[in-house]
Amino acid sequence: MFLVTGATGNAGGEVVRALLGADAPVRALVRKADARVPGGAETAVGDLNDHATLAEALVGVQGMFLMSGYPDMPGLLARAREAGVRHVVLLSGASAALEDMDNAVSRYMTLSERALRGSELSWTFLRPHAFMSNALRWLPQLREGDTVRAQFPDVAAACVDPADIGAVAARALTGTGHEGRIYELTGPQALRPADQIAVLAEVLGRDLRCVGLSDEETRAEMTGAMPSEYVDAFFRFYVDGTLDESTVVPDVAQVTGRPPRTFEQWAAAHADAFR
Ligand SMILES: NC(=O)c1ccc[n+]([C@@H]2O[C@H](COP(=O)([O-])OP(=O)(O)OC[C@H]3O[C@@H](n4cnc5c(N)ncnc54)[C@H](OP(=O)(O)O)[C@@H]3O)[C@@H](O)[C@H]2O)c1
Repeated sequence: MFLVTGATGNAGGEVVRALLGADAPVRALVRKADARVPGGAETAVGDLNDHATLAEALVGVQGMFLMSGYPDMPGLLARAREAGVRHVVLLSGASAALEDMDNAVSRYMTLSERALRGSELSWTFLRPHAFMSNALRWLPQLREGDTVRAQFPDVAAACVDPADIGAVAARALTGTGHEGRIYELTGPQALRPADQIAVLAEVLGRDLRCVGLSDEETRAEMTGAMPSEYVDAFFRFYVDGTLDESTVVPDVAQVTGRPPRTFEQWAAAHADAFR
């Protein structure tokens, strides 16, 4: 049995889909009993903030897809191991490689990876670049009109389709030779927000226009949406330039045996969400 955390979200949902597609036994960890997960997978209720709630979800689990940044990751991993888990595929991010303890995002990813390395579990780290699904943040604007005001307009990222995160995670969990490996997951090309919006315009058949927000406008917008230490973290990445997510890395193709999905493919698959 494989336990998937974050199964109602972008990445975890795709891990569930990929495991179901491989006919692997899947259990999705959900916080609410009525949560909906892809493919009608089996669910178990539990909260990663409270390890005591995970006992039922962990029964019979050999491999686990785990998100980063929860309290007491060493304790969580020890509990998983005691329950019989052998292999954990951890979702961190490109900034884990920076090991920047002054950056709140890099820090939680690095600490999660260190906790897993320090456990007696087999591990695989997935370090995706920015997700293509981040484009869903433009939905409210797209419902209002054809102008999209985008944060960090000059920053290009070789963004990755969460479906490719799911495909790699499923291979890592069900296949062999993935223990002790770090996979950096990217799409096939680096795109700036304006490039993504041009693709969305084409796919949706709309005359969309991208307007870049200034750093001040970006900070104001982000401050309403997340804790200030995360706002600072993203400014360090994208304004100070400590994180370069523009490089295309071949890991998705090497693990899955097929090219990574393009932003056009992602947009076409999610076109209904934008309508
Ligand atoms: N977005 C990016 O560009 C990017 C890039 C690199 C790495 N990442 C990493 O990827 C992670 C996942 O991204 P995503 O887009 O898939 O996130 P998402 O769509 O927001 O999903 C988050 C998932 O986590 C679950 N969750 C939250 N708190 C939990 C808890 N205490 N216990 C159990 N489950 C909990 C949520 O469940 P509920 O339905 O109960 O809320 C949801 O299923 C991010 O948090 C980040 O660490 C993201």
